This record gives sequence, structure tokens and C-alpha cells, in this order.
Amino acid sequence: MPDGGHLASLRVVLILGAAGRHDNHGTRLWADRYWITVTTIPEMIEANRANWDARVPVHLRGYDLDHLRRGGQRLADFEYAAIDVEGRDVLHMQCHIGTDTICLARQGARAVGLDLSGESVGAARRLAAECAVDVAYVRSDVYAAVDALGDRRFDVVYTGKGALCWLPDLHRWAQVVADLLRPGGVLYVIDFHPLVLAADDDQPETGLLLSGNYLGAGPERFDSDVTYTGDGLLAGSTVSYEWAHGLDEVIDAVLSAGLRLTAFAEHDVTCWGRFPGMTDLGDGWFGWPAGAPRLPQMFSVRAEKISPRPPRG
Ligand SMILES: C[S@@+](CC[C@H](N)C(=O)[O-])C[C@H]1O[C@@H](n2cnc3c(N)ncnc32)[C@H](O)[C@@H]1O
Repeated sequence: MPDGGHLASLRVVLILGAAGRHDNHGTRLWADRYWITVTTIPEMIEANRANWDARVPVHLRGYDLDHLRRGGQRLADFEYAAIDVEGRDVLHMQCHIGTDTICLARQGARAVGLDLSGESVGAARRLAAECAVDVAYVRSDVYAAVDALGDRRFDVVYTGKGALCWLPDLHRWAQVVADLLRPGGVLYVIDFHPLVLAADDDQPETGLLLSGNYLGAGPERFDSDVTYTGDGLLAGSTVSYEWAHGLDEVIDAVLSAGLRLTAFAEHDVTCWGRFPGMTDLGDGWFGWPAGAPRLPQMFSVRAEKISPRPPRG
């Protein structure tokens, strides 16, 4: 039952004192002498699904899809050095419009992309067809992925580049990953460093101004009609919910799921042009502006599902 954990961690995010007001994504409850509006985790995930659907038309203009259609690469060399995908069953979790899934398939993976947003999965299917690449796409919440994928199991689960911040519970996420991996299979996460996610949008000329949460602090509600590619306004739902996760939480989740940590790295390059003046490194990658301190932009985690020991004797 995928939603059980969600309901157990129901959190009140809006408390409206007077009766007669309620949030679009909330559930009204009568508590003591007041109506309160709560937004449950499933409602937040549903809001995120609608929000990601609304971002797709903008992203189809904002991602450099011609680069991909011409055969361009989007994964960094250090990613391919960490995972061997050739001839392997690879699940790309939270694949969005499937740009990186296509690159994994071109590298020889039998690739499956999974995403919550139906518009993303639809766009991903069209893009893979245009690129003449064989990829299977599944629309599912990460937390329902084991059911959605049936008896499919994978040699590699690849995820990140803006994935973990959309997940309320990393321990449940890591358990899903462990369940989907074959013994000996590898999880590879390459995601934005929580330091960068905690950074203010308005930065000083030098240094880094932090104004957001680095460690987990519950859901954060955003209402914005623009998206990170900046190529127009969202036509649909503008409300979304994100969760901060410190690196300690990521690593604890992976270890708690019984996976063996084999590599951890912090990178000073990124695939998100987050700040003005960043150095364009090509293929969609960026470095800090010249003269900036050497701070991490992304982190990566590689972990293996331990094979069961053969019986003695
Ligand atoms: C920033 S995108 C990931 C980017 C992607 N890695 C890429 O390379 O383009 C985040 C994706 O996570 C998906 N997502 C958010 N919450 C999810 C959930 N609970 N289950 C599955 N996918 C989810 C969104 O639909 C969106 O496509």
C-alpha cells in the first residue's frame, strides 16, 4: 500500500483560523473550535504532479533538445566512470522528459524511465522516437515504483539532477531502490548539493549567501509561474512542494536500506546554470564564475546491493 507512510506522516502546513477559507490543495478539518486546512503528503505529491505537467511545454523549449537530437551527450564523463551501463538493465528514476534516459540508452543500456508526470512521460516517449532510441517509460510515483514495474529488476538505478528535493521521505525512497535492484546492482545518485539548494537566488558578488534550509525541515510550499529554464510562464498549476535533505540524511537512507556505500563525491561542476556568470563547460555543464570560491555544486553517491552469501560447505 504505497500511501500508508504518507498518511502516517501527515503534516499541517496551513492553519487558517476562520471558517470559510481553504487552500486549493488542502483538506478542511474541524479541530476544537476551528476549521483547519491541512495538506497531506499525497495532496502535495499530486500538486507536484500537476506542477511538473505544467512545466513540460516550457521545458520542451528550454532544454537544448536539438543538441540531443544531433546525438549530443548530457552525462559527464565522471558519471560514466562510476556506472557501467552497457548491456545492463538501467532504471532512470524521475526521468522527466527523458533526455538523460536517451543518453543512457545510447551508451548501451536497456533503459526504463520512470516519472510521476504524465506530460513528462508523454514528451519523453516522443523524444525517444525522434532520436530513434529504444526506451520504455512508466508513469508512476517513486513510492509506487515496485508495483508499477511489476517483476522488473535492474542492474543500475540512476537518478538525480533535481530529483531528491521532490521526495518527502528518503528512507522509503532508498528502500524502493533496494527492492528494485538485483543483488550486486548499483544505485547512482548525482544531485544538486544541499548547500546550493539552500542558497539565496540573489547572490553577492563574491561568496555564497545561504538563506534556505540545508537540513530537512518539512515541506516547503512554493507558488511560482516560472521554471528553472526561464523560457516562459507555466500554463497550469503553479504550486509545488519541496523537501530539503542534508547529505547526512541521504547517506543514512542509503545505508539503512542495506545498500553498501562504495563512493561519495562532491563536485564543483553542475548541470544547472543556477547563478549569473557561471562558466559554460559545454554539453549543458557549468562551473563557478571565475574567481569564486571552490564550493560544491553537486554530490554523487554510489552504492551496491550486497549479494546474498552463498551457503557454506
Ligand atoms: C528536475 S526533474 C529531474 C530532472 C531529470 N533528472 C533530468 O535529467 O531532466 C524532477 C522530476 O521528478 C519528478 N517527480 C517529482 N516527484 C516525483 C515522485 N514522487 N515520483 C516520481 N517522479 C517524481 C517530476 O515529475 C520531474 O519530472
